[in-house]
Amino acid sequence: MSSFLGDEIVGRISRLAAISETSEQLTRIFLTEEHRAAADLLLSWMRDAGMHVQFDAIGNVCGRYEGERPALPCLMLGSHYDSVREAGKWDGPLGLITAISCVADLHKRERRLPFAIEVIGFADEEGVRFASTLLGSRAVAGTFDERVLDAKDNAGISMRDALFQFGLDPAHIGAAARSRSELLAYIELHIEQGPVLEAQNLPVGVVTAISGATRLAASLTGMAGHAGTVPMLLRRDALAGAAECIVAIEEFCRTDRGGSVGTVGYIHAMPGATNVIPGQVSFTIDLRAVSDAHRNLAVADIVRKIEDIARRRKLLLQVDVTHENRTVPCAPWLKAQVSEAITGEGYRVFELPSGAGHDGMAMIDIADVAMVFVRCRGGISHHPDEHVDVADADAGARVLLRLIENFRPRGTRE
Ligand code: GLV
Ligand code: MN
Ligand code: MN
Repeated sequence: MSSFLGDEIVGRISRLAAISETSEQLTRIFLTEEHRAAADLLLSWMRDAGMHVQFDAIGNVCGRYEGERPALPCLMLGSHYDSVREAGKWDGPLGLITAISCVADLHKRERRLPFAIEVIGFADEEGVRFASTLLGSRAVAGTFDERVLDAKDNAGISMRDALFQFGLDPAHIGAAARSRSELLAYIELHIEQGPVLEAQNLPVGVVTAISGATRLAASLTGMAGHAGTVPMLLRRDALAGAAECIVAIEEFCRTDRGGSVGTVGYIHAMPGATNVIPGQVSFTIDLRAVSDAHRNLAVADIVRKIEDIARRRKLLLQVDVTHENRTVPCAPWLKAQVSEAITGEGYRVFELPSGAGHDGMAMIDIADVAMVFVRCRGGISHHPDEHVDVADADAGARVLLRLIENFRPRGTRE
């Protein structure tokens, strides 16, 4: 089947995916050699697409395609180019690369619009390295919290030091911030990461809202000891306590009528030897729900449950919120334009919420936000088997390009 931009997009997705910490799986983490190499490649594609480019103070790649005259406000398009560990290659790059290909197509046709287009590749959306997420988009939205500069990665390196080692000056992060008057809207195309569009037999969908999320860091301290000599009833085993907490979180969410989802995705036990009772354990909790009110109740319930477990097991518990984002609704006037573009490409309009987090959660502070979802295979994401068919990548690009070319700023007459 002939593809308009799909082949180019899929080819670039694969080239970007080759930039990884390990050769077998894709892992591309904030402020690493791979971050730099990916940025260089993306900036070269942006330049080829006729954009003026910039690498900003938090490590975002930014490209600007001027409108009919210089200095017009922009329609901002973007997504992230960091990844989780052992990731799929589409989460983030699909939206970024599609946006670059759409601008390249306009450039090839020498088409200028009555507004500028900016494409941003956000440096850190996943928050793998420093627990706090949306670092790139928060810098752009002017809501970067300087306290996170003290956050440390698992090797004990602070974000501040990692920025310096990378050649970026944390004192300049404020300069990455943009103002509301510069932006007409923020639109992000993204792989769905769930099974809904596939079940609907549709390549694309309109996002209604991005679900809020809370991330917690928990640690349990007990008493390390000899695995052979300390009787079972006298132990204060932090890892056994954490295991009970994990099962309690799973049980809570499984039976929660409010439909919360909870994940313990990281755990570290110390001192970490076969014949030593674990004295200290740290683990993370990721909790999401469709309503913010329900998520807040779920967080409180879960914290109460793990406090009870810690008390009963005589473990010292410390729980901190490392990240919190409210649910972000997509703007009705933008959703209407996304729907028009979908209809214009001959597809049925289908609306769905996003359970995953996205940079729009930060961008909402300076712009109205919309998202286009592209179908993935089997609903698989955050996994190497994540896959988008070239025909669906192509459909996404056609919808995005139509949306850009027909874009009308808010309040503009039809
Ligand atoms: C980002 O992918 C998230 O939803 O955690
Ligand atoms: Mn992701
Ligand atoms: Mn993503």
